[in-house]
Amino acid sequence: MASELLSTKPMDVILNEAADTGHGLKRSLGALNLTTLGVGAIIGAGIFVLTGEAAAQYAGPAIVLSFILAGIACLFAGLCYAEFASLIPIAGSAYTYGYATLGEIFAWIIGWDLILEYAFGAATVAAGWSGYVLSFLQDFGISLPPQFSGAHGEMMVQFHGTWERLARIGPTLASLHIDPMSLPHLTAQFNLLAAVGIALVTTILVIGIKESANFNSAIVIMKVGVVLVFIVIAGAFVIKHPATTIDVNWKQFIPPNLGSYGEYGWSGIARAASVIFFAYIGFDAVSTAAQEAKNPQRDMPIGIMGSLVICTILYILVSGILTAIVPYSSLNVADPVAVGIDATGVAWGSFLVKVGAILGLATVMLVMLLGQSRVFYSMSNDGLLPKWASRIHPKFRTPWISTIVVGTVVAIFASTLPIDVLSELVSIGTLLAFVIVSAGVWLLRVRKPDLPRPFKTPWVPFVPIMGILVSAFLMLSLPLETWMRLIIWLIIGLFIYFFYSRKHSKVRLANGTNK
Ligand code: ALA
Repeated sequence: MASELLSTKPMDVILNEAADTGHGLKRSLGALNLTTLGVGAIIGAGIFVLTGEAAAQYAGPAIVLSFILAGIACLFAGLCYAEFASLIPIAGSAYTYGYATLGEIFAWIIGWDLILEYAFGAATVAAGWSGYVLSFLQDFGISLPPQFSGAHGEMMVQFHGTWERLARIGPTLASLHIDPMSLPHLTAQFNLLAAVGIALVTTILVIGIKESANFNSAIVIMKVGVVLVFIVIAGAFVIKHPATTIDVNWKQFIPPNLGSYGEYGWSGIARAASVIFFAYIGFDAVSTAAQEAKNPQRDMPIGIMGSLVICTILYILVSGILTAIVPYSSLNVADPVAVGIDATGVAWGSFLVKVGAILGLATVMLVMLLGQSRVFYSMSNDGLLPKWASRIHPKFRTPWISTIVVGTVVAIFASTLPIDVLSELVSIGTLLAFVIVSAGVWLLRVRKPDLPRPFKTPWVPFVPIMGILVSAFLMLSLPLETWMRLIIWLIIGLFIYFFYSRKHSKVRLANGTNK
């Protein structure tokens, strides 16, 4: 029994499936598309929203070091993903790598876990996106009924004429000694814009991979453009006015620890790293497009590592400039980058940043939803999920039914669940996938040293071991409730595995062990 649960999918079968038959997924993406796909997934709520909170509460200007730390952690995992993605260029990503190396039960667990990263990731970003859209609309005097502006059951309060989520504005009100209950308040029913955002992105994904990639590339150029504009304008301001910026705001680059773990000092840097880890999530989503890449052996590593390196550099620059231009204690706001550019006195800066964030978050949703439907496609091809999940549209050549089902479920999550619950689940789910992928690379090197690996992770086993340790360290810094939710999620998954997937598994059918 145990050995059956650990049955692996033969590599030659996997590689045969990767061939383009003309009826399956379409191979149309090049290295540039893949890199922009990665950047599209990476730059999002993390840098546009979480940076400010993490600098203000945990690390101060040393948030720059947190970005370097989290970037290095992702680099280890990224190198492992790159080896697998070029060796096994299949839409299932970590799920398929698990099937090839660790066995079916692990593959199932990873596939189920990836839902946390991709589906919940898209939902988290949709919730953040709706916040930016609301604030943007409010700048033009357009407002939505507050009942439809927050997650189900979330408290909304009206402050200075605008409705805000209490979870966000609470600390500001507390610092002003204002009792939120003394302000107009109500309970939200449903986050309408989050659902609309997911519906729009789902439509593009159904229409085609090339269309989705082109839409993504166009927006990524604008999004990176906005980040570069910030770096140039705010960076030039800092260079011209060092006495009022860097000399003051970076005076205490690592603010001293306030007595408890995570409140500034070195532990604060570590804590902030685990929060802004979210900003890096997405480079691995490139690997789910492997079956749609023209030359995956060469281009997958370029897409994964290229997008990771580009974003790491941008993040270090943005966080450094931001904390130089604004005192870190003033950064605990929903739109820290907009606040940063405002400090330069450039009037159109905050408008530009908001537009960049709105467009930028849209592509994060796009790539996450793309990843989710591709993982389901692979799981269904293997018989672990029902057949409809791998049905390809005859004209668009996309897995349209799974894309629509995923879109609908994600829209429901995004419009009803609070963003912090969602985002922590995303981080823990992603980190678990990193641990398993890193372990998988090492294991496959030992078991099958002679496989032709177009890209080899350097310094094995050092890099995979570091991938495992650093990811596990970041997992441990997440709260206990998140661990409990992960465990419950995995138990539900195992239940489905034993009652459905095990009986329909094609690998088991081939072995005659699906009883
Ligand atoms: N890295 C993505 C973001 O920051 C998930 O939105």
